[in-house]
Amino acid sequence: MFEKQLSHHIFKTVSEESGRLGYKTYVVGGYVRDIYLKRHSKDVDFVTVGSGIALASAVQKRLKGSHLSVFKNFGTAQIKTDEWEFEFVGARKESYDRSSRNPKVEDGSFEDDIHRRDFTINTLAISLTPENYGELIDIFGGLKDLHQGVIRTPLDPQITFSDDPLRMMRAARFATQLNFKIEDKTYQALIKESHRLAIISQERITDELNKIILAKQPSVGFKILFNTKLLHQFFPELVKLYGVEIREGKSHKDNFYHTLQVLDQTCEKTGDLWVRWAAILHDIAKPPTKRFVPGEGWTFHGHEDKGSRMVKPIFRRLKLPLGEDMRKVTNLVKLHLRPIALTKECITDSAVRRLIFDAGEDLEDLILLCKSDITTKNKAKEVRFLANLINVEQNIATVEERDRIRNWQPPIDGQEIMNLFGIGPSREIGEIKSALKEAILDGKITNKYDEALLFVLEKGKQLGLQKQ
Ligand code: CTP
Repeated sequence: MFEKQLSHHIFKTVSEESGRLGYKTYVVGGYVRDIYLKRHSKDVDFVTVGSGIALASAVQKRLKGSHLSVFKNFGTAQIKTDEWEFEFVGARKESYDRSSRNPKVEDGSFEDDIHRRDFTINTLAISLTPENYGELIDIFGGLKDLHQGVIRTPLDPQITFSDDPLRMMRAARFATQLNFKIEDKTYQALIKESHRLAIISQERITDELNKIILAKQPSVGFKILFNTKLLHQFFPELVKLYGVEIREGKSHKDNFYHTLQVLDQTCEKTGDLWVRWAAILHDIAKPPTKRFVPGEGWTFHGHEDKGSRMVKPIFRRLKLPLGEDMRKVTNLVKLHLRPIALTKECITDSAVRRLIFDAGEDLEDLILLCKSDITTKNKAKEVRFLANLINVEQNIATVEERDRIRNWQPPIDGQEIMNLFGIGPSREIGEIKSALKEAILDGKITNKYDEALLFVLEKGKQLGLQKQ
């Protein structure tokens, strides 16, 4: 069995070196699972009943062009080649203390090791022992669960989750990536134990969350996280989007489900994690800006501005990177209503220019987000909204080609203005600079040096400055 999957010569080498050391060794976990899912993984985990470090050292000596790293504290070793990563660990028995993240680890049998794993689909193993080389070992019915699309813990789920609460996030993640159902008892335990996520570091939680977001249909995972209250543990702002209020017979849409639909629609168009994050956060300030205006209905004025200001604190708390990626998310949230405002008739070129200037390099992603933000169930409306946005795109293309405004800087910069009038940084210089930018964006003058120079000289004169 598994001739193709075990064709890399490392498997034979591991088998031979194990025999020499008197160990029994198995391929376990994700690599075996992924064989059945037809995903070609290049990460292989070996469990040996003996020392993982001793086995890895012996194997590495026979593997040309490979590199060995030993993690003495964890009793593990890793061999890397250009393409592959092989992890070696001795079979372990782990017991956990409910208040701590760090398990007590002792040597154990192969069965002990398999028992302490997260889901049945991850308990499959392939023997590398000569007597039954290539045989599948399936203690917990993992193969059946793989075929039926079920996420189930091998032991009582409360024990498995209590041993390592991160596994609750992993359950939602695997269900989303593989489009599997979480078995009922396992699901009930997620609800019961969700509060225990509190002992897990935010980095690890966010890692799993990002894997959900990068899946084909992240709404699947977000619904699991919401319904089990896992989401409530680390993302209260998103939870607050849930629900509909009715007053004077007027209601608003459920912004939680709307957001999930926008996210899925964004994912149909881009694999970019940060554009996907912008979809998650685009309406995040709707709850804090919600007002009921009698006779009119619900309003969320300023939610795009307030939302853009919420991005940084959320990123900081979730331990997401605070650099360029966050800047992009902030900009997309802030501008997400602007293209729609441009769908009205008789829009001036100047409004289009301003959007091109403000969106800069995020313009295409912004339009993509706006298209994904259409969630009306009325087909005629959907077609109309989309046509409007396509029209905006065309306007943008026309103005762009003519004015070359993107990533644009005025043709005369602050230094040159200071030289012209022979003064240093001052209020006047700031005023001239911003008047020049506005004049070009408004189309009062064109984006050319000569016109800009005349404008600057005139403006300086008005402010009482003399050309040097
Ligand atoms: N595992 C576990 N509990 C965890 C993490 C991992 O029981 N909290 C076990 C699972 O048996 C898993 C194996 O360790 O298959 C390897 O874990 P990892 O490499 O993180 O995940 P994979 O299952 O390989 O999946 P992926 O590569 O998609 O993360």
